[in-house]
Amino acid sequence: MTYRNDPYDPKQPALLDQTALDDAVAGADKAFAGAGDLDALAALKHQHLGDKAPVSLARREIGSLPPAAKADAGKRVNLARVAIQSAFDARLAALTAEREERVLVQETVDVTLPTGRRPAGAQHPLTKIMERVGDLFVSMGYEVAEGPEVEWEWYNFDALNMHPDHPARSMMDTFFVAAGSDGAGAHREEDSRIVLRTHTSPVQARTMTTRRPPIYIVCPGRAYRTDELDATHTPVFHQVEGLVVDKGITMGHLKGTLDKFVKGMFGEQARTRLRPSYFPFVEPGAEIDLWFPQHRDGPRWVEWGGCGMVNPRVLRACGIDPEEYSGFAFGMGIERALMFRNEAPDMRDMVEGDVRYARAFGWEA
Ligand code: DAH
Repeated sequence: MTYRNDPYDPKQPALLDQTALDDAVAGADKAFAGAGDLDALAALKHQHLGDKAPVSLARREIGSLPPAAKADAGKRVNLARVAIQSAFDARLAALTAEREERVLVQETVDVTLPTGRRPAGAQHPLTKIMERVGDLFVSMGYEVAEGPEVEWEWYNFDALNMHPDHPARSMMDTFFVAAGSDGAGAHREEDSRIVLRTHTSPVQARTMTTRRPPIYIVCPGRAYRTDELDATHTPVFHQVEGLVVDKGITMGHLKGTLDKFVKGMFGEQARTRLRPSYFPFVEPGAEIDLWFPQHRDGPRWVEWGGCGMVNPRVLRACGIDPEEYSGFAFGMGIERALMFRNEAPDMRDMVEGDVRYARAFGWEA
């Protein structure tokens, strides 16, 4: 059917011509098929389906047709428009699927590839033990205290009732760092020599001179003595020091605290036994033996440190009135704990810094 020569219609609705409509559909099909990606397709939409697209202009021409021809023209224009729209939709779906496919491929992670990551390190077992000691005492209401490793001789010895002529003083083979103004045995810290602390006990004196009771502190830390490194000695080692100063503190409190401590460290079966002994800074003083059922050579008592009631002379030297306050103190070796608890017989392994050694101690949470 053609309207071009219709004598009753002065207008020439060229766009309603079926060939023109077919061309519009074919042109759109071709253009959409040629769109390589979603952006290109979007750019074509206006041209083929927008206000100025041939099908849209054709629809406008319907108004100028004689009434009898309108329905037929409307149907044809609509078919053309639907055809273009579905060609567009089909291409849109195809390109979207293609893009998703591409993204999936591009973003694929090959989990089997070797990584460039460094192997994880491991916390040293000595550090783990010291952290555990800290946690246990913090759970009992203590504070973790610290002091310098390079220490005034006064704090390391004199304040702790270890005077220069005291035999115990020469028992500790000391690294001296610097001379003081008037040599050994000074009674004020400014006059004393400087040493690498030979135990963690100077932290007791530091705490008592700077704080008033009640004092509940624990101090895990490093200490130094002039020992050669061998299986059972190391010039740098670790201790944990504990100190309580309060009103009415007795040896019963000390014993109960130690028992609670060793159970937390070594299990419910662990307990302590105190053997009378001598340390200048406590009176009475005792060696701590630990009942250790898991020992590789069978259940037994193992020696693990010293303790006692803080010597009144120490309290006085630090400015605390022994008539009003009493206290207890204890100190033990961390390396030693590692040796019997984890069957680590050679101290040299502990200082070597081989991560494989540390990694083998996976037991501390
Ligand atoms: N400082 C002592 C040492 O290194 C250990 C020690 C003994 C600490 C008795 C104390 C204590 O607090 O009361 O050998």
